[in-house]
Amino acid sequence: MGQVETSQDGTTRTNQTKPDRGHRTESGGDADVVRLPMPSAGPLDPPAAWERLRAKCPVATVELPSGDRAKFVSRYDDVRALLSDPRFSRPRAGDDTARISADGSGGVAADASSEYALAIPETGEPHLRWRRQVGRYFTAKRMAALRPGMAEIAETLLDEMIERGQPGDLKAALGFPLPVYVICDLLGAPAEDRDRFSHWSDAFLNVSRFSKEETGAAFTEFARYMAELVAAKRTEPGEDLLSMLIVESAALPEAERLTDDELLATGMGLLVAGHETTANMIGKMVALLLADRGRWEQLLADPSLVRTAVEEVLRFDANLGGFGMRRYLSEDVDLDGELLPSGTTVFCGMSAANRDERVFTAADEMDLTRSPNPHLTFGAGPHSCLGQALARTELQVVLEVLLRKLPTLELAVPADELRKVEGLLVGGLREVPVRW
Ligand code: HEM
Repeated sequence: MGQVETSQDGTTRTNQTKPDRGHRTESGGDADVVRLPMPSAGPLDPPAAWERLRAKCPVATVELPSGDRAKFVSRYDDVRALLSDPRFSRPRAGDDTARISADGSGGVAADASSEYALAIPETGEPHLRWRRQVGRYFTAKRMAALRPGMAEIAETLLDEMIERGQPGDLKAALGFPLPVYVICDLLGAPAEDRDRFSHWSDAFLNVSRFSKEETGAAFTEFARYMAELVAAKRTEPGEDLLSMLIVESAALPEAERLTDDELLATGMGLLVAGHETTANMIGKMVALLLADRGRWEQLLADPSLVRTAVEEVLRFDANLGGFGMRRYLSEDVDLDGELLPSGTTVFCGMSAANRDERVFTAADEMDLTRSPNPHLTFGAGPHSCLGQALARTELQVVLEVLLRKLPTLELAVPADELRKVEGLLVGGLREVPVRW
């Protein structure tokens, strides 16, 4: 190990001579490296280092927990442009991408080279075709139609929390189950299978809690279940997303139809992409809004602010997790005057970009009326979140139900005692203890 320094903003920097998979300096000498994860003052606060990086070092060299190095981009314009630039691709099998953790794992969803890699097309025309077909489901009309069902799920889950007594854990009681129930409904799976979906989702994402065998078993079970569900929908289509894909696909030329493997992968992809992200965001939304009582009171006084409040929570969240979206360069690219060689791994710091004063006035203030609010929490470009309309709807419905049902809701611990999950992919709070 080389020398470790702690700078004024709390960032730990190392000067060392480890192999540098993400970046090699021109001189071949040691680089000024920022270690990930960057420390922050409180669990809901952004790392102090972001401001310095945006101002002085928009393309920083970072060291991951694995010891590998990469680049970290923190300015809004850079992050947005980079996510839309096809030269920065999502890591694929065979790429020498910087590894996040030492064992190279990051969950089924993390790694296109994993043995459980999804059969969803990743690039080019096949990916666009898949996106077009699946994206057609997430219309404003359908999202509006899903609202009453979501509100009912939220009400039931909250009733159960209330019945168990105070204090409750809002993340476990509502944040975690609601998105998985919604995805079950979306796929047209019967309500009695919801707990199985929860278990599978957990096993796919929680690499630290499940062994490789358990993850493998969950994958096999899920694949078998989905194959049966697809077969059932082929026989008797319903109103769900799988049925829509089957029916619409049948009208397309043979080459464009989604295969059974692609349908299965779509189901799994939506579960993996849409469960933990939304579960964590529900927890963080409630924590952020209750951390300053004035915010909650403002919403109680004017519930029409729910939509802009949800957008502001999405922008303000400093625990989006992982270290930002990972991209891999397969050719040399000039970025902010720095030549990034082919083979560089770049992390796009969406949360850092969301605090960029060049775009957001008073970026470190939470303004529940902020509009427009072009945050990058759902990414940008060809891979931007396909489920964002659904995620927004879930967050809005949860907030509306909470304001109506539990107006006296408050955090049961001081906000700075909330505990973070240092997720590899998705960041959040371990629990959100509440009273009412
Ligand atoms: C608050 C919750 C959510 C957040 C913060 C979030 C964030 C993101 C981000 C940042 C990406 C871009 C990934 C990249 O560029 O590599 C993404 C992609 C994606 N998300 Fe979400 N997401 C959320 C909820 C959902 C939900 C509810 C669904 C669907 C059920 C979903 C489905 C997807 C899919 C399918 C992709 C891949 C799109 C593609 O590669 O073309 N997400 N999400």
